[in-house]
This record gives sequence, structure tokens and C-alpha cells, in this order.
Amino acid sequence: MCVALLAGGRSGEREVSLSGARVFEEALDASRFSIRRYDPASDLEQLARECGQIDFAFILLHGQYGEDGSVQGMLDLLGIPYQGSGILGSALAMDKNLAKVLYRQAGLPVAPWIVVGGPVQNRCDEIIAELGLPLVVKPVRDGSSLGLTIARSREQVMTGVERALLNDDRVMLEGYIAGREITVSVLGNRDPVALPVIEIIPGAEHEYFDYNAKYLPGASREICPAELDDELTRTAQQYGVRAHQVLQLAGYSRSDMIVAADNTIYLLETNTIPGMTRTSLLPQAAGAAGFSYGALLERLIELGCE
Ligand code: DAL
Ligand code: MG
Repeated sequence: MCVALLAGGRSGEREVSLSGARVFEEALDASRFSIRRYDPASDLEQLARECGQIDFAFILLHGQYGEDGSVQGMLDLLGIPYQGSGILGSALAMDKNLAKVLYRQAGLPVAPWIVVGGPVQNRCDEIIAELGLPLVVKPVRDGSSLGLTIARSREQVMTGVERALLNDDRVMLEGYIAGREITVSVLGNRDPVALPVIEIIPGAEHEYFDYNAKYLPGASREICPAELDDELTRTAQQYGVRAHQVLQLAGYSRSDMIVAADNTIYLLETNTIPGMTRTSLLPQAAGAAGFSYGALLERLIELGCE
């Protein structure tokens, strides 16, 4: 089977994608698959020209122009099957605002939030009155915590919004929920199954699971399965499955959550193309469920062909 591996791309998560692609190339069984690598930043025309020779595309792109439905739409037009979610689910999950609207409608707990489309000098007091401090400031559409800051003062709300506006034209301000960071991966199309929950403990020098904590080996500790009681584990897994369904996702997804001190689990966001680097979370959760990295790839290809 000839697999087109789409990696690189134009988003801020380009390096994360390339790093995952190196592991992918080592792990996919060479006796059953041949891999052709394409970088959408430079090779789109070539991909379109060669589409007749490709049986399947594995989209290992994160963020805009990859995880947001755009590449999925192109592959639909070219008639190439791919892993994971289609146009609609990808676009919904990429937009943290619409994802939260859908989570809330499904009864999943979310932190209160506001979306702004420009600097907030004149609205700071109103925002702080509604969400309190500290609050989380992030681009509506980005990944790996890029452009994300935690604002602890009026000044930091303003500078945080300006920082996030460099990555997207809309910015989300969200009430800060103190608690334990967990993530739930799910595998499947119509009846997805949750994998073991992971708790992430960022190293002391990281205030939260920021970009470096995510990708520097040893910068965070991951506990899998997370040490949560059975009820919390079940609830987190149910939320992961429900998030996958309400966002109309396929194949797999990984939802990030916070367990607050009162044991309420808040949904933060759902990733439709979770990272696949050596330090990434989905491969760890799959490993705990008995899937090697290579077996996980084969299962995703199988689900993408259904
Ligand atoms: N956005 C990164 C790749 C992740 O969620 O793993
Ligand atoms: Mg993300």
C-alpha cells in the first residue's frame, strides 16, 4: 500500500509535525507499506499530479492548513482516503470557540469564556469582572499552547491579547481553572473507545503544559494510567468519547481536560491530529492499551479506510 505522509506544513507546529514524521517513518511496517513524503508548504502540486499512485494519505499536520479541514477537503477532491476526521469535524475542533459551544450544548463542563477580535484596552475591566483573574488568553485556532499566556493582571490581559493576535484574528479569554491536567485519547469511528487517561505533571519550571514542557524530553512527567479513582476515570473517558461525537470526529482524537479541586472535569479542547512525536501523549496512551506505535498507525489507516 502506498501511503502519502503529509508533514511539515505552514503552521507554527511545523517542527512538531516533522518530528512526528521521523518517528512515523521508522515505525510503519516497511514490508506492508511504502511511504512517499509530501510537505504541503511546497509539494501540493506534486501530490495532486501523483494522486493516482497513492492509496492512502496520513495527515501528520497540526494547526491551521492541516488540522482544520483544509487538507482534508483537498484529499476528498483528489479521492484519497485519510486517517481521522473529515472537513466538518476538523474545522469545528480547530475553532476552540465553536468546540466549546458544542461541548456546553452537550452538557460537558467548560470554563466561562469570551472571544474578542482585536485589542481589549477599553474592555479590560468588563472582561476581568466577568472571568476574574487569573485568566487564560489564547488564539482561537492554534495548537501546542502557541500564543497562550496566563494573565494575572489587567496589563497582562492586554499584552496577552496582543500576543495571541499575532497567531489568529480571534482570541479567547477563558476563566483559569486550577487543577490537574489530564488528557483522554479515543480510537474509533462510530463507536469510539477511550484509551487509558494520562495525567501530565509539568516540571517545576513550567507554569503549565507549555510548548517546551510538551516537547523537551523529560520536561514533563506523564502518568498513564492516571492515578484517578474509578469514577473520575470513567467520567473523563466518557467526556472524551462525548467530545469526539459532538464534534463529529472520526478515527481518533485527544481531548485535554482539567480536574478541578472539587473533582469537576472541565473540557479544554479536542485535538483531531494529536502529536505523534517521541514525547507525545496519544502514542503513550495507545501503548498502555497494548498498541505499539506501528500498530496504532495501522489501526488508524484501517479506520480511515472504513
Ligand atoms: N497540538 C499538538 C500537536 C497536540 O495536541 O498533540
Ligand atoms: Mg491542541
